[in-house]
Amino acid sequence: MNILQIENLSKVYGKGETAVKALDNVSFSVKKGEFVAIIGPSGSGKSTLLHLLGGVDRPTSGKVLIDNTDIYKLNETQLAIFRRRQIGLIYQFYNLIPILTVEENITLPMLLDEHKVEPEHLKNIIRTLGLEKRTNHLPNQLSGGQQQRVSIGRALISNPAIMLADEPTGNLDSKNSDEILELLKMFNKTYNQTLIVITHDERIALQADRVISIEDGRIAKDEVIRS
Ligand SMILES: Nc1ncnc2c1ncn2[C@@H]1O[C@H](COP(=O)(O)OP(=O)(O)OP(=O)(O)O)[C@@H](O)[C@H]1O
Ligand SMILES: [Mg+2]
Repeated sequence: MNILQIENLSKVYGKGETAVKALDNVSFSVKKGEFVAIIGPSGSGKSTLLHLLGGVDRPTSGKVLIDNTDIYKLNETQLAIFRRRQIGLIYQFYNLIPILTVEENITLPMLLDEHKVEPEHLKNIIRTLGLEKRTNHLPNQLSGGQQQRVSIGRALISNPAIMLADEPTGNLDSKNSDEILELLKMFNKTYNQTLIVITHDERIALQADRVISIEDGRIAKDEVIRS
């Protein structure tokens, strides 16, 4: 079953002389539970692609279907709700809210959605992420690896269909990188959660089921490593 279907997706930034075609007619699909690595040179369009898959930006043309929902047919409010429920986003620089505690940062998407947080589910996530002793700390009281684990918790709290990560280990040392990747892989395998990771790290790309190479806004290669 395809959880994600991308059809003729293009993105042009700016207009006229300074227009940049960041994504050029890209089509592919991703099966439920697949772990896909996206690689490619700087400026090739990887983050642009991930933002369009995550519903955080709108394409110039083309379609993104997630679990058969054509997400850019939704209005802004519907899209915001869909994103909070179905898509987990993880960034290189964590993007945590500095004045909220670890627990508050993790539960924020549920509160925004006026959904009750299931206490067992929250406890489970916090335990799995090894953050039991840090639930009342603020982000600036945490190490980089811990902050990234909080952002994974926030991405996971609503049991999203897809996890999207843009260089999730780009700011971490190799030990913390390995731990973060193990966590992402664990959620991918245990809960069959689809995982799409942008990375410059070949060690990470080689652990994926499939590697998509982007060059100049197009798919240059799409290789299944394991199925
Ligand atoms: N908001 C924007 N306005 C104008 N141009 C942009 C914008 N965001 C990205 N671009 C341009 O689009 C192209 C693709 O950028 P993108 O951020 O997707 O690359 P990337 O593959 O993620 O690169 P990196 O590996 O350095 O993160 C680049 O030429 C970039 O300059
Ligand atoms: Mg990028």
